[in-house]
Amino acid sequence: MRDLRANEAGKSDDARRDVRSLLRIARGQLRAADVPSADLASELLLIHVLGRDRAWLYTYPDASLSADKAALYTALVVKRCTGMPTQYLTGKQEFWGLEFEVTRDVLIPRPETEHLVEVSLERIGARREHSLTIADVGTGSGCVAVALAREMSAADIYATDISAAALEVARRNAERHGIADRVHFAVGNLLEPFFLDMTAGAKPELNLIVSNPPYIARRDMETLPREVGRHEPPQALFGGEIGTEMYAPLFQQAKALLAVGGIIAVEIGFGAMVAIYELLDSDAAWRDVAVNNDLAGIPRVVSAVRN
Ligand SMILES: C[S@@+](CC[C@H](N)C(=O)[O-])C[C@H]1O[C@@H](n2cnc3c(N)ncnc32)[C@H](O)[C@@H]1O
Repeated sequence: MRDLRANEAGKSDDARRDVRSLLRIARGQLRAADVPSADLASELLLIHVLGRDRAWLYTYPDASLSADKAALYTALVVKRCTGMPTQYLTGKQEFWGLEFEVTRDVLIPRPETEHLVEVSLERIGARREHSLTIADVGTGSGCVAVALAREMSAADIYATDISAAALEVARRNAERHGIADRVHFAVGNLLEPFFLDMTAGAKPELNLIVSNPPYIARRDMETLPREVGRHEPPQALFGGEIGTEMYAPLFQQAKALLAVGGIIAVEIGFGAMVAIYELLDSDAAWRDVAVNNDLAGIPRVVSAVRN
């Protein structure tokens, strides 16, 4: 008995497969690799491998993992140490209280993008009960389109993206959240798929256009955290050399498609507020241009009404 205990106490870290030891080792590796929120990452990856929740980890710190699960966990921690975001390793991210599938084909939904949904709902107001037609430009994972579809039960939503691979993820997310019959996907540049439809004779009248376009300046690429710059899709990040290049063509196309009284709402990046506000405010096609800040007080959403 004494020998057995001695062996157990002398086990190398490699041989320990209990929750407490695995978390301790992972935390050390993740911190040493300068992973932000290292402790949280260690737990999220273990929760993912075990299919348990956080409370379970704290309740059963002595539970032992199978060799396979321990090996999988260790491999995920190693990948996280190279900068791969936790969400791409677990394949999911929460947005608007819903769980979304994410793959490396899509931007990981950000909490600040929830303001885009909030502002859109506020500006649509009581019309949200009506059977509105909405476009989400650059839908990525589909997070904004799905959130809006869930909030507006009579709305039809057209979601576009330049990336066919992203649209596949968005389609699965629409199915997962039970609104696939009201969300329609089209691959193409900004709102161009609508113009193609128009040549076929069907002129759409949109009531709301939302977009979180790529808005990072290509020249800032080197300053991005490695999780973003090396792992998220470039077409989801960079709007051009200065970053704001997508807004002017988007607004031009939006003018032609929005019904009178229709709303445009776009997410913007840090420092872009004046330029984007001016684009709308200097054009008689728009009125009631507004800016909403995010929780950090940074201007995040610009919106306007079609005259
Ligand atoms: C910043 S991401 C936003 C994704 C998602 N809407 C969100 O908020 O998480 C921008 C998205 O726009 C897409 N995109 C980039 N250029 C585009 C273009 N010219 N036309 C349509 N979509 C584009 C990217 O593929 C990417 O999915």
